[in-house]
Amino acid sequence: MVSNLKYVTCKQEGKIAWVRFNRPEKLNALSPELLRDLESAVAWCEEDRSVGVVVLIGDKRAFVSGGDIDHMAKADTPLAYALTDLTMRVQERLADLPKPTIAAISGYALGGGLEMSLCCDFRIAADTAILGLPEITLGIIPGGGGTQRLPRLVGLGPACRLILLGERVGSQEAATLGLVHKVVPSDHLQDEARALASKLLEQPPLALRAAKTAMRKGLNSSLKDGLQMEQDLFCMLFATQDQKEGMSAFLEKRKPDFKGR
Ligand code: COA
Repeated sequence: MVSNLKYVTCKQEGKIAWVRFNRPEKLNALSPELLRDLESAVAWCEEDRSVGVVVLIGDKRAFVSGGDIDHMAKADTPLAYALTDLTMRVQERLADLPKPTIAAISGYALGGGLEMSLCCDFRIAADTAILGLPEITLGIIPGGGGTQRLPRLVGLGPACRLILLGERVGSQEAATLGLVHKVVPSDHLQDEARALASKLLEQPPLALRAAKTAMRKGLNSSLKDGLQMEQDLFCMLFATQDQKEGMSAFLEKRKPDFKGR
């Protein structure tokens, strides 16, 4: 576990890694320092084999209020490249984590905050959450994957509303759009994230990893290449103990006990 970070705190609870944004005075705005701390936290989640599921969370007021406007206000094009290079590096690492990830959103998830959540497999939102990509109102466009990941997730029409008009949506509307998976009472957000993480921990880890790879890489491939990749991953899983266990458990009418081997 990484314990020396300033802007992100890490806590391990069984096999669940809680990665919490910790810059409350700026509503967890993504400064370069915070992004570097997040990169270290994500690296820990990736490398530590005792971590099975990762939850990103903020505080009641904000998941993340976006890129740090103080920092960006002084930027020129080279600095904007440096910032987006760092952002993309962290996001790729998060999106490619070979374990399931959950963004537990309360309060604001704006700009880079929403974009960070789009790199997670699940988004659950408190009923008080507000989501949006307001970059257009600042004279820029989303620079952390928003123009690419949002339309892929919710379709071009709803994405245009958020990106071209900078409109924010509440969590219920976000759920209707398919942007969040579940809306929960604000006080239950952590419990709901824990319950979802526990469900994921009951699944076979190697199959989870393969399914995640197939979906994420498949989205960037032709259908033909994606289907080939799916076939290879499917067949590879027949070399695992978990496949034997899953099918034996079905035939023996019992609950499977997956070991990740
Ligand atoms: N970057 C830098 N600082 C930010 C920030 C951001 N994205 N979002 C909030 N903050 C800072 C505010 O400047 C303020 O700092 P201060 O107390 O030193 O003045 C502090 O966080 C609290 O924010 P405040 O605006 O006072 O809270 P609010 O409840 O009135 O409004 C928001 C909350 C989220 C609606 C508002 O802060 C906002 O619009 N933030 C920017 C959102 C955005 O455009 N994100 C995309 C950036 S690319």
